[in-house]
Amino acid sequence: MGTPHNAAKLGDIAKTVLMPGDPLRAQFIAENYLEDAVCFNTVRNMFGYTGTYKGKRISVMGSGMGMPSMGLYSYELFHEYDVDNIMRIGTAGSISEEANVRDIIMGIGACTDSNYAKQFHLPGTYAPTADYTLLKTAVEEAEKLGIKPVVGNIVSTDSFYHAQEDVNLRWASMGILAIEMESAALYMNAAKAGKRALSIMTISDHILKEIILPPEERQTGFRQMMEVALNTAVAITE
Ligand code: HPA
Repeated sequence: MGTPHNAAKLGDIAKTVLMPGDPLRAQFIAENYLEDAVCFNTVRNMFGYTGTYKGKRISVMGSGMGMPSMGLYSYELFHEYDVDNIMRIGTAGSISEEANVRDIIMGIGACTDSNYAKQFHLPGTYAPTADYTLLKTAVEEAEKLGIKPVVGNIVSTDSFYHAQEDVNLRWASMGILAIEMESAALYMNAAKAGKRALSIMTISDHILKEIILPPEERQTGFRQMMEVALNTAVAITE
């Protein structure tokens, strides 16, 4: 059938989907890591592929940038395509001494300045969190590769260019590791759907120390993160 944003038919997408922000990264993963990858979506160039990795069926699809984009694609994957697990694999800007450029971080929780939670009409403030099984498995898989991930709270912002100069310091004062733009929507969609989500990110820049990784180094960090995510997908697949 498909949706307004996804041409895939039910059954075309695996139970576990890795979602980089950039659809060209989805294509890169399909071409370099998956066997027998088949493209299931090209609508708006938000490429999606299904193939196998270490014998397990896995999909990869771009999420786009920001919570509205991650929100709609992950909603459709959970509700229209019977997807059970989504792992975001992206980049984040550190605002913490604990997370340095090149580090791999995992978001236990995702604070947000967005109104995404309003739709659920809750009588308080919702705390979007990662799925514990995915998180635990991802930490174990990272350690098997000799990587020590930094695990903690992150913030998903609607404003890459924020009007308030001290905004990052305020989040940092609450122990937030890093800033990105998608995880809170993903975690809320997973919770509402009764499914599982996790965000794994490489630190591409340190906002407070004003360090930005050169593009080729971003690529190396990205490869490590992809392997952690792919091995986690394998570990949780029957
Ligand atoms: N802000 C928001 N999202 C990001 C950043 C940032 O500084 N770096 C990578 N993703």
